[in-house]
Amino acid sequence: MGKPYLGLVALFRVVSSLLCFITSPSASAADVHGGEQPLAKIAIHKTVLALRDSASIFASPSLLGKNDEDTEWITVELVNKDPAEDDWVGVFSPAKFNDSLCYPTLEDSYEESPYICTAPIKYKYANDSNPYYTSTGKTSLTFQLINQRSDFSFALFSGGLSNPKLVAVSNTIVFANPKAPVFPRLAQGKAWDEMTVTWTSGYNIDEAYPFVEWGWKGHAAMRSPAGTLTFNRGSLCGPPARTVGWRHPGYIHTSFLKNLWPNTF
Ligand SMILES: *[C@@H]1O[C@H](CO)[C@@H](O)[C@H](O)[C@H]1NC(C)=O
Ligand SMILES: *[C@@H]1O[C@H](CO)[C@@H](O)[C@H](O)[C@H]1NC(C)=O
Repeated sequence: MGKPYLGLVALFRVVSSLLCFITSPSASAADVHGGEQPLAKIAIHKTVLALRDSASIFASPSLLGKNDEDTEWITVELVNKDPAEDDWVGVFSPAKFNDSLCYPTLEDSYEESPYICTAPIKYKYANDSNPYYTSTGKTSLTFQLINQRSDFSFALFSGGLSNPKLVAVSNTIVFANPKAPVFPRLAQGKAWDEMTVTWTSGYNIDEAYPFVEWGWKGHAAMRSPAGTLTFNRGSLCGPPARTVGWRHPGYIHTSFLKNLWPNTF
């Protein structure tokens, strides 16, 4: 266990120094990434509050993954008495996205602190599936959501991506088992008769003991323990990775299956 685990830690160190190298601390998110990545076009830190009773947004179903699915399509119903072509809907996860999530930075100290400090994980223009939205003020949008350890909420913005005004916030929806282990990845181990299994979950090692149960069909199963890694905001060198771009990566578990036999499943 000892050596491979250290190997992963070393790899992570290299990756995080690369992140530090790529992110220029003096430039803002919009300057560095404008146009490069669709989500980076959103000037989320500039959001102002413009909540209106005449606009509403509702997401359903409220409970996802009832049959252990880790991906689901959901529907968002939108009503807006004052629709515009550049209205858009952002998906937030975790669902709570107001200034209680702000992370203090030097940049904020001389400005009024922003209302939203976390970027949406997805967005669509309100007119995406219905060109009549701007005349009727009603539409419904669909989003595919993947179980990623947190609940979700949806927000309607006016003002386009560059001057967002928060108009309405939806109900919260959640997967039945948000911390479920997901995304198993197989890779070769260090020796010819070793393989690694890596997966992600919402459980740190003080909550659950990660292991892989495996073996030949019809024989007694073996159990291999997994090492667990994660990182936090403080491991990243600056904005936007440490501020609006931050989302907890979950817990990454890796187990080594050893003494495997050739040509067997
Ligand atoms: C929908 O809105 C976007 C953004 O404002 C705009 O570029 C696009 O032309 C609109 N599509 C339709 C069908 O109105
Ligand atoms: C932010 O959200 C939290 C939790 O939902 C709530 O208690 C708090 O009042 C909100 N703050 C503002 C400024 O809306």
